[in-house]
Amino acid sequence: MARITASVYTSHVPAIGAAIDLGKTHEPYWQPVFKGYEYSKQWMKDNKPDVIFLVYNDHATAFSLDLIPTFAIGTAAEYQPADEGWGPRPVPVVKGHPELASHIAQSVIQQDFDLTIVNKMAVDHGLTVPLSLMCGQPDAWPCPVIPFAVNVVQYPVPSGQRCFNLGQAIRKAVESYDEDLNVHIWGTGGMSHQLQGARAGLINREWDNAWLDQMIVDPAACAATPHIDYVREAGSEGIELVMWLIARGAMSDVADKTKQVSVKHLFYHVPASNTAVGHLILDNN
Ligand code: DHB
Ligand code: FE
Repeated sequence: MARITASVYTSHVPAIGAAIDLGKTHEPYWQPVFKGYEYSKQWMKDNKPDVIFLVYNDHATAFSLDLIPTFAIGTAAEYQPADEGWGPRPVPVVKGHPELASHIAQSVIQQDFDLTIVNKMAVDHGLTVPLSLMCGQPDAWPCPVIPFAVNVVQYPVPSGQRCFNLGQAIRKAVESYDEDLNVHIWGTGGMSHQLQGARAGLINREWDNAWLDQMIVDPAACAATPHIDYVREAGSEGIELVMWLIARGAMSDVADKTKQVSVKHLFYHVPASNTAVGHLILDNN
């Protein structure tokens, strides 16, 4: 059967993608950011998954304000990098896994989560920047990716609790797939940032680090965090962090209290563009 063996959490700052694409990773401003992902790139090579289930948000790229699915699962064979206004990033096409994605859609919808099924979409920095951070600049991404888009742009957005519960349903879905597949689940976005309004530029190191620590030991407490706390403490775009709870809910210790996850890597850095960068790798042992 298929299994979720690890989860990865990372910010998706678009300027990081530009720094990679324009060869600026060794500049003094960027060097500390990329240093924080050196371990992660090696870990990806040493623990290569068969499939990545990648939870991210679309930034009005594939879905305009005309159509806003709360949760959308990509069931296509491939996804083109999106043109976000400066041309598409020069990164490989993202290959999908239609069979596993369709199975997860079937199982998760039967577990009472209403997913939108997407057979065609372009993927923006929310998905391609985490891939670049974890995989570098390969000619092809190391494995198929199932994109899972969450609306965190236009209110009403889903609660952290619903995201956490959804992660548990995704775990059950993966474990009911017959083929032996090693699946990683990634939660992306965050950490504290606010891109507009009077508080633009807000960064809250203390809150971010407390949240990272709590995500490791007591994710149910993170799941109980109401929207207003994210917005007040982590800025309006800090709400992207609810997506991490989908990945965290899919870990073995949530389903089975006798199990423990281990922390493979933890990294936090400010600044990167307008955003605090947070990154965590958890393994199911
Ligand atoms: C920035 C961060 C984001 O998460 C995003 O989606 C767009 C911009 C920024 O730091 O500028
Ligand atoms: Fe974003």
